[in-house]
Amino acid sequence: MKQNTRLIRVDPEAPDEEAVREAAGILKRGGLVAFPTETVYGLGADALNSEAVNKIFVAKGRPLDNPMIVHLACLQDIELVTDHVSPGEIALMEKFWPGPLTLIFRRSYRLPSAVTAGKDTVAARMPRHAVAQALIRSLGNPIAAPSANLSGRPSPTTADHVMEDLRDKIDLVIDGGPVMVGLESTVLDTSQEPPVILRPGTVTREELEAIVGRVIFGGSDQLLGRSPGTRHRHYSPRARVTLVEENDPLAVSRLVDQYVQASKRVGVITRHSLPIEDTPMVTVRILAQNLDQFARQLFAVMRELDRMNIDEMIIEKTEEKGIGAALMDRLKRAAAR
Ligand code: TXA
Ligand code: MG
Repeated sequence: MKQNTRLIRVDPEAPDEEAVREAAGILKRGGLVAFPTETVYGLGADALNSEAVNKIFVAKGRPLDNPMIVHLACLQDIELVTDHVSPGEIALMEKFWPGPLTLIFRRSYRLPSAVTAGKDTVAARMPRHAVAQALIRSLGNPIAAPSANLSGRPSPTTADHVMEDLRDKIDLVIDGGPVMVGLESTVLDTSQEPPVILRPGTVTREELEAIVGRVIFGGSDQLLGRSPGTRHRHYSPRARVTLVEENDPLAVSRLVDQYVQASKRVGVITRHSLPIEDTPMVTVRILAQNLDQFARQLFAVMRELDRMNIDEMIIEKTEEKGIGAALMDRLKRAAAR
């Protein structure tokens, strides 16, 4: 399926109504539209159109057993997704929606089974981004959308990243500029007691516990079968990734020297200044010390280093508290062989 992918630029805070109507029209006719959310860009289809949803798997090269998130514009739309909402879930929705929290519900049979990849549960969230909100409202149906990357690549945080992966495979990209968060939503399974974080994100365990009491991180065994996306090979760069302790410039210098001696091209991602100069063999990217800002930059820099065809990527760890838990989750996956 080869087609010309169009790109329209909109104001991320007040998107042009005409542009949104046009995008919604494509979704209504069963097409695919990539759009910005506050976390990462999503690749959307009308969630109630199973043929359209099936196209998402093809465009992304996504394994057919990996379900996707259904995006809602308002709380009432939850009725289209599930018939079972618990008091704890209502409290979570009231506190964190619209925003980067995905909840797992028992699935309503109004939804095509392609969305849930045949599972009896469904993931749903209400995005905060004005473009995502406007698009769902204009369509009048929820939008099924995984991240708008080719399966196995980092989630896109700009429209350029979407084009890099999906050009000629989808109908339209709505360019609303760089996203605000830069990491995918927190996925919480409230069907179990205590609730399980299937994927950490910027809504932290501490914030969830303040609403529903004890919450646990899913161990890798527990994830098997439960959140297929955490089981499938996740993004790992072509380069080998080594994680180093925070603020240890000496360790980084030693590793860089060792790789350069072995004629390897090296990329370093750090949050602290280093006594290392860029050379044709060595690329250093110093990102923000602040972890929210670091999250916004991380996937873009991983893509940049990938394009440079480096052999060895050295990435500084973060603390594993708050948003650092989500960052370390993504970094460990990138470093896993
Ligand atoms: O921030 C985000 O969540 C972005 C934006 C576009 O909303 N979306 C996103 O979607 O990251 P995706 O498909 O790349 O990741 C969704 C994750 C996957 O790990 C998937 O396996 C899991 O949620 N998931 C979806 N439905 C599920 C279900 N019924 N039970 C367990 N896990 C589920
Ligand atoms: Mg994804």
